[in-house]
Formats: sequence, structure tokens, C-alpha cells
Amino acid sequence: MAFPESFLQELADRNDIADVVGSYVRLTKRSGANLFGLCPFHSEKTPSFSVSPDKQIYHCFGCGKGGSVINFIMEIENLSFPDAVEFLARRCGMELPDEKEDEGRKKRERLLSLNRDAARFFHEKLKEPGGAVAREYIAKRGLSPTVVKNFGLGFAPESWYELTNAMKAKGYTDFELVNAGLANSNKSGKGVHDIFRSRLMFPIIDVRGNVLGFSGRILGDGEPKYLNTRETPVFNKSRNLFALNLAKKSKNGYILLAEGNIDVVSLHQSGFDSAVASLGTSLTPEQARLISRYANEVVIAYDNDAAGQKAAQRAIGILENLDLKVKVLRMSGAKDPDEFIKLKGADAFKNLLEQSENHVEYRLQSAMSKYNLSIDEEKVAALKDAVNIIASLPNAVEREVYSMRVAEKCSVSKDVVIGEVVRARKKKIYYTKMQQEKELLRSTNSSRAKNKAVSYENPRSALAEEGVIRLLYLDSGLFSGVEISPEDFSSPLLGRFFEILKEKTDAHLPLSMASLSANFSPEETDHLTGILQKPEVLSKGQQALGDYINIIKTEKQSAFAEDDLRAYAQMRNKKEKGYGGQNGC
Ligand code: UTP
Ligand code: MN
Repeated sequence: MAFPESFLQELADRNDIADVVGSYVRLTKRSGANLFGLCPFHSEKTPSFSVSPDKQIYHCFGCGKGGSVINFIMEIENLSFPDAVEFLARRCGMELPDEKEDEGRKKRERLLSLNRDAARFFHEKLKEPGGAVAREYIAKRGLSPTVVKNFGLGFAPESWYELTNAMKAKGYTDFELVNAGLANSNKSGKGVHDIFRSRLMFPIIDVRGNVLGFSGRILGDGEPKYLNTRETPVFNKSRNLFALNLAKKSKNGYILLAEGNIDVVSLHQSGFDSAVASLGTSLTPEQARLISRYANEVVIAYDNDAAGQKAAQRAIGILENLDLKVKVLRMSGAKDPDEFIKLKGADAFKNLLEQSENHVEYRLQSAMSKYNLSIDEEKVAALKDAVNIIASLPNAVEREVYSMRVAEKCSVSKDVVIGEVVRARKKKIYYTKMQQEKELLRSTNSSRAKNKAVSYENPRSALAEEGVIRLLYLDSGLFSGVEISPEDFSSPLLGRFFEILKEKTDAHLPLSMASLSANFSPEETDHLTGILQKPEVLSKGQQALGDYINIIKTEKQSAFAEDDLRAYAQMRNKKEKGYGGQNGC
């Protein structure tokens, strides 16, 4: 969606960067005109994250991230540009420009607002006298008031009509209640009734903070144990993950993937704040893709039963396909993470996490534990499975190490295992090669894309170009009488930035990174804000600007001169060889 620039400007004006950043980062230490704090985007002990209220930008001198208030929200809330704009619009009560036209979107928003109201209703019910049963259950499961609040847990009362009536009183229709998966039509054909009754309610919230649906656990034993919102226009359980809204803010760098909602809540309660669950389905490729937007490593902590282990094997394959680093946590003496923590404590779980096996060890162990190694036939079968797993490893050292380990375990000579691995590998080699080639292509493409924004062909000129841009951004009054055009810039990115700045100034529009950021990629934005955040003495702006421009022009001249020299040399060369000179002088 393209937003009008005036809209973005107003959005930035009404969301002061120091306020917005200040609600995520403690901004204290003042240094010049800047506020400083600990960077939320990398871990550090001394503050190198700066916010400039004057320039309305942030920039981290440590990790290089930077941009406008919109970029900040994109980064910290992990949102796309339009979603970040929507987030900020909501924060300051601005209406989105083309919201009115979009009927489908409006309907969706009605459903989301119904879900939000329902979540509030359930949460309130938990506090009322009737919620005592649920409070007892929560206490029995050892869930703290803090997680109850953070997860927005609630209680669906015994009644068939309480939710429905409360929501109708708020103006929602029967149709909307059914459409949201909160009610079913009565058999009589008249009216509707609540679907969730006598259950502990877990709202399922997406990364933007929308309540998409619910997962309701029975209080105690009974069937079904969990009742989930059916598929609705806003909810599809194979495309969402429970608690990703919270886990995406974790600084762990990995996602902890559990099976049960209760496991996730309990993990968060013990400080493992990157835990999510896959809503009762085994992990789907869509869910894996969602994870890959927020982390490049996943630690699987599924239940300790056959079903859990099987689901883990499947999940490994899906996650690996997305180039995610996968580890598997192996528990003993407890059926799931929740029980493990209750029995042995959070520190013990932390140890498990640290010892979690990479997926090779895990797969070997799982494959071989199926067999009785004291029976020769089974040993052969176990070796075959193990060899196949090892042969698929791209790293030769790893292949050797695991071959040795397997040989030892089966008490056969390591040469035999290694020989088998080589054979199995030959079969796979064609496939592996294809994979590697694809991989290589992808990685060079992405690093090329990254470098394009930041590499300079002529560093001397580019530094002066940076100076020009910085001065003009800070004081657009300096533009009058500036004798330089975008074509004079050696860096295309800086030239483009200059051109946009000039257009804005000519049109008497204010300059802000927020209204400009739609023109640049995230890497370009990081780079540009880094430039803007460098110190510049404005009192001698005019003189500095003149000096910078001189450098740029001199550099351009000498570049031309070099080109001329090269052309002349080429011509001479051709002439000497006797086949040139057609367009010679
Ligand atoms: P579990 O049976 O392991 O539940 O199912 P749990 O969350 O660990 O709960 P406790 O600790 O036994 O109380 C794992 C997940 O599978 C889905 C739910 O998302 C659940 O969290 N599930 C399970 C269903 O959707 N429906 C069911 O009937 C059971
Ligand atoms: Mn469980």
C-alpha cells in the first residue's frame, strides 16, 4: 500500500521518536543533543544507541541500525512497512487513508475487534466470583498472575449465553459471532449460543497484536481437552503460532518450539521468553516460515512421548528446508517442559537447553534406539540407517566424527562405517551438488544486495557527498545557491537522496526520514541514518558546504580525466596495432 507523504509526515509529527523509542528503551544519558540508551537490536553493556529528537532519527553506533520512527517500529515489532504505519496510526489515533473504501478489510477489523472484546470479557470473568473454578485450576497448574496477565488468559463461564449476550450488548450481530467462531446457531434456527463454556481461555494473538482466535482448555479431565477456534476469515491454525506475539520480542536469538499451550506459558513464566507452540497441529511449513522471520535457530522441546518424538522428526525436516539451524532438547523424567520445570526447576531446564543436541546427534540417537544392538541383524539395520544420516552431512569432519561414534557404539571398525558412508554419499552427491550450487547463488545474491547500498566507488568524493547531505538535511535553508546536481554525486544512493531532499525543499515540504523512508530499502536506511547521525558543526554550515562541493567537483574532474586518459591509451593502443583510428582524432 502506498501512503501519501503528507500522511506519513503527520504520522511522524504525531509520534515523536523520543516518546516512541522511550517506551521500549530507557533513554537517559544525554550527550549533546542526543539521547542514549542500550541498543534493543544487539546486546551491549554501555549505551551506543542514540536518538536525535532534532533529526527525528535513531542510530546505533554499535550495530549500525538506524532510521525514522517508522523504521524503529518495523525493526522492534518485526513489522512490514505498512503494518508499522498502521501500528503508529493506531498509537496516535489517526485513521488510515484508504481504510474507508476497503469493505473486506472493514469486516475483518470488525471480527478482530469482536475477538478483542471477547478476550477482555473472558479475562474479566476470571476475576469475578464465578471464575473461582478457573482461578483454582490456574493455581493448581502453578501459573503466576504475571503470565495470566501477559498472555491475557481468561475464563469462559459455564453458561450458554453469557458471552453472546455481552457481545450483542456491544453491538455485534449473531452473524458476526458465528463468523468469528465464538458462537453456533441454535438448533431451533433462532439465535445463537456460546461455543466456549467452562474453559480456561488462551487467546491466540498474531505478531501485530490482533486476537485471531482462542484455544480453550477444559478445567480438569474431559474431552475434548482443548477446543480451538475453527477456521474463520481471520484465523487459520496452520498459519499461526501460539505466543509468537511475545516470543518475537525475545533477545534469545532462537525460538523454543513446544507442543502445548501450557508448556509455553510455563516456559515464559520461568524466563524462557522465546517459547511458542504450533496450536495442536504438527509444525506446518507456513509456521516454519513465520518462525524464520524472527530467528535463525529453533530448539525443539516437544513432549517426551512417541508422538512428540515423531512430530520432532517431521519438524526438523520442515525447519531445515528453510535453512534454520535446528537443535533438539531431550528431556528425561518428565513428560513435557511444563512438568520438567515443575519437577526439576528452571535451572535444570536451562541446562537441558545448553546441552540440547544438534539435530545430527538427535537423529542418530533416535534412529538407533529403535534397534537392539546385541542382535546382529538389528545392528546391521541400525548401521544402515545411521550411515544414511551421516552421508547427508555436508561437512567431511562431521561425517568422520559421527562415523567414529557410530562405529564405537556398534563395535565395528571405523573404516567400515566410513567406507559405507563414502558409498552412500556418492549416490547423494549429484543432489548435494545441486543444492550447494543453489545455496551459493542465493548467498552471493544476498550479499551483493547488501553491499550495493553501502559500498562507495570513490570514497573521497562520497565522504564529501555525505557531508552535503547531512548539512542540507539539518538546515534546508542552505539549499539556496547550492551549485550541485544529483549527477555530480559519485554514489548513486547519495545522489538519489540529494535529489529527494532538493525536491522536498523546493516544494517547501518538511524533511524527515519518516516521510522519506518509503524510498529506501532497510539497508539503505541504516546507511543513510548513520550518515545523518555523524556530528556536523552547523554554525559554519555555508563554508563547510562549499568545501564539500569543491571536493566533489574536483573528484569528478579527475574521474573524467582518468576516463579520458584511459580512452586515449586505448586509442593509441589500437592505432599502434593498426586496426583502430576510425573515430580517432
Ligand atoms: P497436550 O495434550 O500435550 O496439552 O496437547 P498441554 O497443552 O500440554 O496441556 P496439559 O499440560 O496436558 O494440560 C498439546 C497441544 O495440542 C493441542 C493444544 O494446542 C495443546 O496445547 N490440542 C490438544 C488440541 O488442539 N486439542 C486437544 O484435544 C488436545
Ligand atoms: Mn503436553
